[in-house]
Amino acid sequence: MDQEKIGDFGEVLGMEKPEKIKAQVSKQGTDLDEEKIGLLDFVGPKAREIIEQDCNIMSACAARPYPLVVDSAKGSIIRDIDGNEYIDLVAGIAVMNAGHSNPEVEAAISAQLKKMTHCGYGDFFAEPPLKLAKKLEKLSGYSKVFFCNSGTEAVEAAIKLAFWKTKRQGLISFYNAFHGRTLGSLSLTCSKVRQKEHFPAFRTAHSHYAYCYRCPLKLEYPSCGIECAKELENLIFRRDLSPEDTAAVFVEPVQGEGGYIVPPPEFHEEVRQICTDNDVLLVSDEVQTGCFRTGPFLALENFGVRAEISCLAKALGAGLPMGAMLADRELMDWPPGVHSNTFGGNLLSSAASLASLEFLERENMETRVKELGSYMKQRLWELQDNFPCIGDVRGLGLMIGLEIVKPDKSIDPLTRDKIINEAFKEKILLLPCGDSVIRFSPPLVITNEEIDLGLERFERALKKATA
Ligand SMILES: Cc1ncc(COP(=O)(O)O)c(C=O)c1O
Repeated sequence: MDQEKIGDFGEVLGMEKPEKIKAQVSKQGTDLDEEKIGLLDFVGPKAREIIEQDCNIMSACAARPYPLVVDSAKGSIIRDIDGNEYIDLVAGIAVMNAGHSNPEVEAAISAQLKKMTHCGYGDFFAEPPLKLAKKLEKLSGYSKVFFCNSGTEAVEAAIKLAFWKTKRQGLISFYNAFHGRTLGSLSLTCSKVRQKEHFPAFRTAHSHYAYCYRCPLKLEYPSCGIECAKELENLIFRRDLSPEDTAAVFVEPVQGEGGYIVPPPEFHEEVRQICTDNDVLLVSDEVQTGCFRTGPFLALENFGVRAEISCLAKALGAGLPMGAMLADRELMDWPPGVHSNTFGGNLLSSAASLASLEFLERENMETRVKELGSYMKQRLWELQDNFPCIGDVRGLGLMIGLEIVKPDKSIDPLTRDKIINEAFKEKILLLPCGDSVIRFSPPLVITNEEIDLGLERFERALKKATA
């Protein structure tokens, strides 16, 4: 099943009235389109109007799974343009860690707004980005910071720093990886071929990630001895890309878009060791996993491993665009003019980011996230007992994936999408990832009651989708 097509709401919705849409559906004739069209009955007239106009004017390259038109939000609740309320179990893809409309973040943005929004931090100096950099140093232990605006830019910056420092131009990443969609980061991305076809790439070798539920090497953990990680040395460095030509290995601590895949503890230790032994830099892409999403500030801390470079974005800006590349001063010693941008260190984004990190730190998020994550996984394991389509429940902290499978354990993207659609009707927001996975990445401020209510609704969605 073509996930990009499933996700492309615009293709189906480029029309105004449900009746017209339904006529169109019978022409197209797939179950999924009918499903998708049916969802329009669950949103109000204002939403339909906006979707129609949006589909006419916006590039269709974004993939929307269901017709949500947002209007306002608070904590873990999103209200749509017609006044319907949804429990947000995805946080704008792991962005709103401090919750929607967090009062401390709002106050910091308002205060900065009254003073100044933008100065061109690449040209001048200012206090908000400096304060944020010091906070990042304290939270991460890295002594140097580079600011940008998004995940893909943080990864691009890391690629450039690795090239610049090593004077090598080969890269390594992992199958199922997602590191962004600009051309450098896209070379590392290896998630869905649609994202890469027709686009040129840097020289990049891909190695197997520890996807134990579907081991690519058909081995069993722990007797496998983490053979997948060892392939870096045994296969890639011997047959494809010499360490002498490799600038860096890029890895996600937990794979995100690729399917919320949590590797066993030894995986990152092994990868780290191989990089050290071969004098190759290790870059941790914490764009999705960072900012306490999995418990500690950086997810790689869960594995007792430190990378030379870490990339942050998403939750870092608390809803405003913000990315960062972190490294130690011995590594990030490139000279003025070698890399920069217009909006990195933006004053509003910096103020929002600092307020959000201070809030998350003060609320002791590491502990809270671990507790809530265990609670949520426990509840999902209970559901797994009654719903054989849930093949695997996995996650770290509040980054939890459910792999939806057929009775023979093969992937089942159609059922996965039906479940997400039914969940939308039940007024909970979920998103797909990987081939057949539902992701849960709620705001970290979600309450136990909201989790309970969300999972009650999710159970109803599962029942309807699998009836
Ligand atoms: C691990 C990871 N890296 C990089 C990116 C790209 O981030 P952005 O969409 O902000 O460019 C993403 C986005 O989902 C991501 O999950």
